[in-house]
Amino acid sequence: MKQKIPWAKPVFTGLEREFLVNALESTWVSGGPFLDRLERDLANYCKLEYALTVSNGTAALHMAYLALGIGSGDEVVVPGFAFLAAANIALLVGAKPVFAEVDPKTWCMNAAQIEKCITNRTKAIVPVHTYGNVCDMDDILDLAAQKNLPVIEDAAEAFASKYKGKPAGAMGDIGTFSFQATKTITTGEGGMVITNQKELYDKMALYRSHGMLRKTYYWHELPGHNFRLTNLQAALGCAQFENLENIIRERKRIHEKYINCLSRNSGISLQMFPLNVDPVLWAIAVKLDPRAYPQGRDRVIEQMKEEQIETRPGFYAPSFMKHIYECQKLPICEEISRQVISLPTYVSLQNEQIEFVCQKLLALKA
Ligand SMILES: Cc1ncc(COP(=O)(O)O)c(C=O)c1O
Repeated sequence: MKQKIPWAKPVFTGLEREFLVNALESTWVSGGPFLDRLERDLANYCKLEYALTVSNGTAALHMAYLALGIGSGDEVVVPGFAFLAAANIALLVGAKPVFAEVDPKTWCMNAAQIEKCITNRTKAIVPVHTYGNVCDMDDILDLAAQKNLPVIEDAAEAFASKYKGKPAGAMGDIGTFSFQATKTITTGEGGMVITNQKELYDKMALYRSHGMLRKTYYWHELPGHNFRLTNLQAALGCAQFENLENIIRERKRIHEKYINCLSRNSGISLQMFPLNVDPVLWAIAVKLDPRAYPQGRDRVIEQMKEEQIETRPGFYAPSFMKHIYECQKLPICEEISRQVISLPTYVSLQNEQIEFVCQKLLALKA
């Protein structure tokens, strides 16, 4: 029986256990010092003033929308190919997600496509840095400045990726991250927002905790939520952060190995990373040409499963989910959505396993 190759798997070095036991024994299981430490570490890493840990990456977006006053009747511009948390939270706060086409090579949205979606109801632009790529932020920030719109970078999949030397998530008004189990660093479930703007930081801190200021219990400044991470989770996060350089090195090894095995193969195209992006991949994803794979991407996923290899489809385009989203046809997003398959990507994945995955994928070509 072959050993199964999962799509993702977190890596723990041992420090996680030590920090977790430390948090447990301290009895600080909700709030506690690991939270402050993680926020300091992450703000420093992103070279910004403020970081707030949150219960997950979706809550991070929710808090960002609330702090920016996005609500009923407003619109936010989001990409039509991405994990759709930014769109879902828009709907949940009563706003309308307006979907932009993405670039056919980078699979990220760019300023030209965003501009087509801006109306006098637009309240924010939410670039999503998909699979660890980073959107062309200079152009997006120029457009946002011209239109006087805030930018929330959804960097859930791009922690530690860089654009022109700047950390993903640290260029807009607010950046959001996810620390879910498959992400570059994990706290089980978890996330973070970062900003350089004190006013937004203060607002988000209020929304994170029922609108209560820390020093005045049970007085609500506004109707907030409970978006807090726990000290136990932050203990994991601090340990993961200590191992970040190793995680980055290994993710880069995996990316390079997949490129070596898969590029120059007809019928398969890899996501394109511009030269000004230094990516730390969340997941390697490739587009399968239907002429080379006439059985279709979904059948390929089943065939890979028969080889004990877990893969995932690309994100479904919102225009395929008319039961939730009001969305025009998005030909580029739809094509990517139909053809993309993402392959196992995790730190302990060995080069021989990557060769095996690629060999099996290539063997499925017609
Ligand atoms: C781009 C993007 N945004 C937001 C999220 C939501 O993060 P979480 O699962 O931590 O709520 C994800 C999660 O997988 C994501 O990929």
